Amino acid sequence: MKEAFRRVHGADAEGIWAAPGRVNLIGEHTDYNDGFALPIAIPQHTLVAARRRQDGRLRLHSAQGEGPVIDLRVDGLTPGAVTTWGAYPAGVVWALREAGHPVGGADLHVDSTVPTGAGLSSSAALECAVAFAYNDLYDLRLPAAALALLAQRAENGFAGVPCGAMDQLASACCTEAAALHLDLRAGSHEQVPFDPRAQGMSLLVVDTRVKHDLGDGAYAALRTGCERAARLLGLAALRDLGPVDLPRAAELLPPHLVPLVRHVVTENARVARAVAHLRAGQVAALGPILRDGHTSLRDDFRISCAESDLVVDTALEHGAHGARMTGGGFGGSVIVLAEEDRVEPISVAVTTAFRAAGYQAPHMLPVSAASGARRVW
Ligand code: GLA
Repeated sequence: MKEAFRRVHGADAEGIWAAPGRVNLIGEHTDYNDGFALPIAIPQHTLVAARRRQDGRLRLHSAQGEGPVIDLRVDGLTPGAVTTWGAYPAGVVWALREAGHPVGGADLHVDSTVPTGAGLSSSAALECAVAFAYNDLYDLRLPAAALALLAQRAENGFAGVPCGAMDQLASACCTEAAALHLDLRAGSHEQVPFDPRAQGMSLLVVDTRVKHDLGDGAYAALRTGCERAARLLGLAALRDLGPVDLPRAAELLPPHLVPLVRHVVTENARVARAVAHLRAGQVAALGPILRDGHTSLRDDFRISCAESDLVVDTALEHGAHGARMTGGGFGGSVIVLAEEDRVEPISVAVTTAFRAAGYQAPHMLPVSAASGARRVW
């Protein structure tokens, strides 16, 4: 990173920061409903080498694609002005300035092991690495969660993706061997022990290679549907509805909104159950929760796809405790929780099933709960 920075920017970096991608164990499409989620950070991460500039320019370079340096003026940053990957780092600088932080220019060089379009939050990793870099370079002393919310603001307000805050909070606040229990209304989070390996299990991420894109309108439509349902029920958010309220809500709502609401309400309950099991040290007990979560996303929220369903079904047939699509949906990745000795046969079975179905070969990434964003040099 140091050498590449020097080659691209012609000077030494002041530091290097890292921020991870994430997978969500349970609690999908609950974040923008003021609900609960339970992500972990994964070992795949984005690195940012950076140094301040005194001339108000923001110069961005990425090792992926080796395109030219993107050269911007920080006082000219406006939403929609940058449409490439540069929108994420530029958006963070914009969000910091919008929030009144006196930050100026910088040279940045970015490199990443988080696959893009795989539902593993490569954009949140990039935003958080930049936010942490700026926090140190400009001595802002903001806590990790505040940096995460600024990163989300960058994605919403600058890159134009109406996501919730889960991905950025996961990338910023996760710790090793723990899942992050998020309460998106309270704005609070707690570390819950999550170390499947200590109990002879593994968490496997299967990237279906079906590219998901949150900017394409389907995600926004789901969010609008949930918010509309809450309004029709006279609630601030679907978070305020419990499982016992569902029959009454179903009478009041237009039929097409009922399954959306049912997913969010049952999903929040699944997060609570998952947290209780993890606190009791019962990792395998997550299995049925993951299975139910997938069924709910597939049948009620309707955001799975044939490839993700095939991973889940094949993994379960070959002895996984549980499996489900993770992230925004419409492709991306599936998580599989299994005994360590089942991981190889499951991987082979999934790859074989994909070949038989004529799908491109999936990528297998064994993961553990890794640490959140930090300065690494
Ligand atoms: C994407 C969004 C998150 C969250 C998930 C679904 O990852 O960025 O905010 O809504 O989808 O749980």
